[in-house]
Amino acid sequence: MAKLNLAVLISGSGSNLQALIDACKDPDYPAQINLVISNRPDSYGLERAKKAGIPAFVVDHKDYAGRGAFETALQATLSEYPVDLICLAGFMRILTADFINQWPNKIINTHPAKLPDFGGEGMYGEHVHQAVLDSNAEMSGASIHYVIPEVDQGKVIKQETVPVLPDDTVETLAARVLEQEHIIYPEAVRMIAEKRT
Ligand code: GAR
Repeated sequence: MAKLNLAVLISGSGSNLQALIDACKDPDYPAQINLVISNRPDSYGLERAKKAGIPAFVVDHKDYAGRGAFETALQATLSEYPVDLICLAGFMRILTADFINQWPNKIINTHPAKLPDFGGEGMYGEHVHQAVLDSNAEMSGASIHYVIPEVDQGKVIKQETVPVLPDDTVETLAARVLEQEHIIYPEAVRMIAEKRT
């Protein structure tokens, strides 16, 4: 069966990208990564892509006058490769409805909490974990979900629960959540490739 063609969009460390790269090494995995795009030139994820022999591009949002121009450049880069699914993996830009509507049900994201809790605009990266700690919640989690114009409100594909421990810091909680993201992101991509969502 033909593999699902992925584009992975990143902004930082790219550990979720690495989880997808590792999953794709299995010849039986039903997806392949055709390109990686970072909106930041200094993302460590770019090194991970290069090491894996995957074409890697920088589309730096700072080089463009506004969101529209940035997304036109993103779209131009994506159009150079076959892409069935865009995987946001620590991509820290909000995409406009115009862009998202060009890829209906074809953009997914990993969010470091159990949606619908601790989601929405402004809830990204360490802000999420800080909010969880501030709320004294006993549980957090990780969610892989479809991207729709309403931030973090698209259908959840796969979720995992993660305990919050009494002496947790943002760093220890983030690391525990990331471990689960690394498991469920490749599983969610497999579910989509096998039409099980
Ligand atoms: C991940 O925890 C991901 O859920 C989060 O950023 C981290 C990126 O790590 N993304 C968001 O908060 C987006 N709303 P990584 O670069 O090592 O994959």
